[in-house]
Amino acid sequence: MKRLERIRVGIAGLGCRGGMAMDRLPIIPGVEVTALCDTRQELVAAQQAKLARNGLAPAREFSGPDAYRQMCEWDGIDVVYNCAPWSLHVPLAVCAMENGKHALVEVPAAFTVEDCWLLVETSERTGMQCMQLENCCYGEIELLTLSIARKELLGRLVHGEGAYLHDLRSYNYNTPEEDPSWHYRDFWRLKWNAAHKGNQYCTHGLGPICQYMGVNRGDRLDYLVSLESGQFGFEEYAREKYPPEDWRASLKVEMGDMNTTLVKTARGRSILIQHDVANPMPYDRLNTVVGTRGILADYPFRVGWEDAPGKGVHRFFDDARAAAVREEHMHPLWRQAGKLAQEVGGHDGMDLIMDLRWAYCMQNGLPLDQDVYDLAAWCSLGELTERSVREGSMPQKVPDFTRGAWERREPLGVESIDPALMDLSAIRPLGGKAQ
Ligand SMILES: NC(=O)c1ccc[n+]([C@@H]2O[C@H](COP(=O)([O-])OP(=O)(O)OC[C@H]3O[C@@H](n4cnc5c(N)ncnc54)[C@H](O)[C@@H]3O)[C@@H](O)[C@H]2O)c1
Repeated sequence: MKRLERIRVGIAGLGCRGGMAMDRLPIIPGVEVTALCDTRQELVAAQQAKLARNGLAPAREFSGPDAYRQMCEWDGIDVVYNCAPWSLHVPLAVCAMENGKHALVEVPAAFTVEDCWLLVETSERTGMQCMQLENCCYGEIELLTLSIARKELLGRLVHGEGAYLHDLRSYNYNTPEEDPSWHYRDFWRLKWNAAHKGNQYCTHGLGPICQYMGVNRGDRLDYLVSLESGQFGFEEYAREKYPPEDWRASLKVEMGDMNTTLVKTARGRSILIQHDVANPMPYDRLNTVVGTRGILADYPFRVGWEDAPGKGVHRFFDDARAAAVREEHMHPLWRQAGKLAQEVGGHDGMDLIMDLRWAYCMQNGLPLDQDVYDLAAWCSLGELTERSVREGSMPQKVPDFTRGAWERREPLGVESIDPALMDLSAIRPLGGKAQ
């Protein structure tokens, strides 16, 4: 891509996620937040105040339901950072690219195969980047797994497992008055879950596995089957929590609690992806890979590989050896920026690592780690898993969004940051709390 030394960012959607992005983007060298956009002016004003408290230049304000269009048209931004609700991800990204802006889109960036193609074709035609902000690809253990997979310490990868198991019942049902910090404005996520089946939030688990396996870079997703349990958790939660006259108590939710999807790749690997946000369970993304020489799993982190071919792995490495593996094979990005990223916050640091990395790539004209073809392949599972579930788990083909290029595309870049090109030592967390 073309080098963009100074990156002017407009953020759309300043709720939970957009507000968190405002703790990270302004501190990245060469990145300026020059536009703030939300339907609600008070959220725009709150983020404007954050800039002022930190002595940063004011951003242009855009508020109102269609204000994102004006922001995309404005020539004071280069990138639209899209943290709006799901239904706006594609229209906003297309609007950004059509107006000559790169589009960075929160997860999942799209939900239908048609929209995935729309993003691919718009990106190709306009020459603008369209990247999904899949932060889990930058988790410490995910990047460690990528390092270990690249060094082939687990042998050839055979199977991967990823998931999003996260009790989101209260988030889905809360009003801002019931919990100012944990809610989805206007119940946008609950309404989506009430209308859909399948895995509507698959990329946290799937994205990292695809990177380990070189999906779209030597392999590709070929077909899937998807099966889900009935709906129990959401409806029971709402019936018990709300009085019968509250609409939430009787809302019918289409989404089954536990969705399990199996994907086969063109090179013969298998991937299991799960989603459950409707039951009480500890947070888990599984992050498990099995190779011809060993296995790595997370939650908690465990690893083991054969010290000699055919010797077997009867137990995971003990704690001391696992810790030594974690230290020795720590990904260069985490070694460079892990401590800083944890200090800044955002999903234990992975959010800042992700933002540092795309900014670094843009500033230096390097390909992004996740491009529009990755976005499309991963996000197409929204519609394909729903179709499979509704058809009694019938197989669904995953389109080849690279149109055959997956066989010859270069492997993912090394993913480090050259300190001569981006000075991480100058970065300090923002200060000052809102009054
Ligand atoms: N990557 C992650 O770890 C992660 C975590 C949480 C949420 N997310 C994603 O971030 C996105 C936002 O989630 P959230 O939790 O911040 O939701 P939220 O409801 O807190 O925020 C959404 C914001 O978008 C604003 N909005 C609505 N319509 C708009 C419009 N037309 N123009 C501009 N702004 C508009 C709302 O007013 C609200 O402030 C979702 O896509 C979600 O999946 C990702």
